[in-house]
Amino acid sequence: MGPAEVMRRYLGAMQAGDREAAFAFYADDLVAHVPGRSALAGELRGRDAFVGYIRAVLERVDHADVELVEMLVGVERVALLVREMLAGPDGDVEIRRANVYRVRDGRIAEIWIYEADQYAVDELLAATDDPFGAFERTGWSAGRAAPYHQAVGDITAQCVEALLDAAGVGPGVRVLDVATGPGYAAGRAAARGADAVGVDFSAEMVALATRLQPGVEIRLGDANALPFADGSFGAVTANFLMPHVSDLPGVVRELARVASPGGRVALTTWDAEGAIYARGVPEAVAAAGAAPPGDLPPGPSFFQYAGDEEFAALLDGAGLVDPRVARIEFTHRIGDLDAFWADLIGGTVRTNALVTHQDAATQARIREEYEQLLEPYRTDGGWDVPCVVKLGSAAKP
Ligand SMILES: C[S@@+](CC[C@H](N)C(=O)[O-])C[C@H]1O[C@@H](n2cnc3c(N)ncnc32)[C@H](O)[C@@H]1O
Repeated sequence: MGPAEVMRRYLGAMQAGDREAAFAFYADDLVAHVPGRSALAGELRGRDAFVGYIRAVLERVDHADVELVEMLVGVERVALLVREMLAGPDGDVEIRRANVYRVRDGRIAEIWIYEADQYAVDELLAATDDPFGAFERTGWSAGRAAPYHQAVGDITAQCVEALLDAAGVGPGVRVLDVATGPGYAAGRAAARGADAVGVDFSAEMVALATRLQPGVEIRLGDANALPFADGSFGAVTANFLMPHVSDLPGVVRELARVASPGGRVALTTWDAEGAIYARGVPEAVAAAGAAPPGDLPPGPSFFQYAGDEEFAALLDGAGLVDPRVARIEFTHRIGDLDAFWADLIGGTVRTNALVTHQDAATQARIREEYEQLLEPYRTDGGWDVPCVVKLGSAAKP
């Protein structure tokens, strides 16, 4: 069967609404290049990943029939020009796109999607029932990566060795580091001889991690719907992802899904009492007499599931076994508080909004209050700030 016939049958199945028959045309090792800034975009590898993408799109928008405008047939590739009406929250939107398919042995082996109006598609796909998730996603791609690496990365990177130990990362283990940010855990895993992959939904972070961790594969993807097949990693880690997602139980189930039997999943988060530098910001906002800005979407507690019992229950609820919750304590030295503050605010999302959505005088008061809160930790020439972190891990049965 030539490429044109394969595509005709595939389209026929799609238009008849028989999605399973259409999905059967995807090669197991299909690669799909999905453009855009939505959480679903990226290079999706494997049939399961692309089917997951289609299902996620269908969950977000109501599809009307797809109209085929033209099919252009080449020797190996077929291009389809299509038009479809999608029902978004603000009414119907006409979407035009070109999809290029590479066909191999009667199956679709590679797909490139080109949207005529990428902006409209991103808007539609971001219009989910998770405004906090959309806020985080947009925020982490708004110039945060470099200041994050300057200020916060020095702190979070201190937990990486314990995280990798808890996940059982050693030579030859295929490990996925989710929400890899600048790629600290992925890079150190590779230094242990592991086969490491980092994934993050911020294109900026992906670019930074790719630069900082040469030789490590860094991919774009969302922790809510990872672009990997079930059971594809012997260990899965996530360093400080927990405060940033609305549906943490769903995310932990997703981390468990991509772990292989016997593999460990390990996550860290800030302890509600002991994370002085982090809890200091909302405390400084309150001490300055300011309210949290009204334009922030409601989100989970920054310290969600950080308590020992709830952390263990979170892992258990994802179907994992042998949950262990440990405490990591260390001191972080701040030499120049002005520089630290600028990068802390510049390199975060919710913390940033808490401060920058206030007027200038209030922002100055918050900065003063933050310094007051750090006063007990002042030492010669700086601040030695205690940090307490929770590390939870469990195994895929
Ligand atoms: C606090 S940083 C942690 C970065 C890194 N793991 C570290 O140890 O420093 C949070 C990271 O999570 C990423 N992130 C947040 N929500 C995510 C999601 N739903 N999927 C993928 N990445 C996400 C952000 O882009 C950011 O890089």
